[in-house]
Amino acid sequence: MENKKIKIGLIGLGTVGSGVYKTLGTFNNIEVVKIAVKNKNKKRDIPNLDESLITDDPYEVVNNPEIDIVCELIGGMEPAYDLITKAIENGKHIVTANKELLAKRGVEIFNFAEKHNKVVLYEAAIAGGIPIIMPIKTILAGNKISKIEAIINGTTNYILTKMDVQGASYDDVLKEAQELGYAETDPTGDVEGFDAAYKITTLATLAFKKRIKFENVYREGITKVRAEDMKAANDLGYKIKLIASAKLDENGRADVRVHPMLVSKDSTLAHIDYVTNAVSLSGHPIGHITLSGPGAGEFPTASSVVGDILAIAAELGTTDYLLPMMRCNHEELADCINILDTQNKYYLSLNAKNNKGVIGNIGNICAECDISVESIVQKNVSENNTADITVITEICKERNMQNAVKAFEESGFINNVNSLIRVQV
Ligand code: HSE
Repeated sequence: MENKKIKIGLIGLGTVGSGVYKTLGTFNNIEVVKIAVKNKNKKRDIPNLDESLITDDPYEVVNNPEIDIVCELIGGMEPAYDLITKAIENGKHIVTANKELLAKRGVEIFNFAEKHNKVVLYEAAIAGGIPIIMPIKTILAGNKISKIEAIINGTTNYILTKMDVQGASYDDVLKEAQELGYAETDPTGDVEGFDAAYKITTLATLAFKKRIKFENVYREGITKVRAEDMKAANDLGYKIKLIASAKLDENGRADVRVHPMLVSKDSTLAHIDYVTNAVSLSGHPIGHITLSGPGAGEFPTASSVVGDILAIAAELGTTDYLLPMMRCNHEELADCINILDTQNKYYLSLNAKNNKGVIGNIGNICAECDISVESIVQKNVSENNTADITVITEICKERNMQNAVKAFEESGFINNVNSLIRVQV
């Protein structure tokens, strides 16, 4: 076995695939024997690329009897699902960076792989180059993880950081980010929080050892965050970040979500800027840890893919049941809590007519909705005789806060509910 080279088939030779190909070139025991691409004629900046390996039929990879490990790096639901399951049927182990597929059909893939005694590794799917999956499965396995708070989307973190630093609007920063290639032409997947929601679905499943259904993950993106909110948050000692979080309540119910959040300037996540990602875990006996680093990019993501390949390669041919700690078999479904039944602290920005008693009336609506106010700030009155008023509440029920928002909208003395953003506690 010692002299046999491990044969790899790559599906996808985009940014991540290129990084993987270039990195694997430095390992003598690994050989890439087939690469499937969408467009064979595309010019690629890969020195020493062996063009004879390239095909535009990905089934030439999954059906190739020589191949030991298939790396799926194309993303999306289909044909990725079909390719992965065919490859497993054909006796191949899988390394994938496909967060959407894992979030939506992970349970089917892992069960199918187990039935065929194959492993599916996916370090690159969550937080790019940050090692988080393998540590949770191995060195942190003795922990009961109770909470995750993470910044796992670089595009949105870049936009929010720029808005903060430049005092610019979301639209202006998005445009600039698109011009610089930091945001996609269609940015929906990132800015509406889907990408982060896929990642936290899988991360929470792994951490809580219970399957989280993607449909049960609450999701809000960053498109409604205003430059004025950034400024107000700063004045109050906070930064605004898109936070993916997962926690277990006292009854063991999972609360998994993605939404903008005011985080204290003293917190670790407040200092994670631009495209950097970070994952904070709380558990027993470890306490609290944060891992941070590049969440995307050619070589950081390749680092995770290649690490997974090498983990499989090290055990191939040495055992009938390889990498037992790296297998996923959490079939029990988590009981998930509805966002309306959660309790949160809130930042609320209201625009009101400049009238006597307005602050008192805001206080009354809060009291009627069983919400206690922690602070209320009005700095000045605008030329149009209105005022922006910022309220920070104490912890209260989401349902009560939604009732309060409705009451403000119908009150007659509030022109507009500018923003409602949850605050880290
Ligand atoms: N689109 C992701 C991000 C990177 O902006 O972080 C790939 O998961």
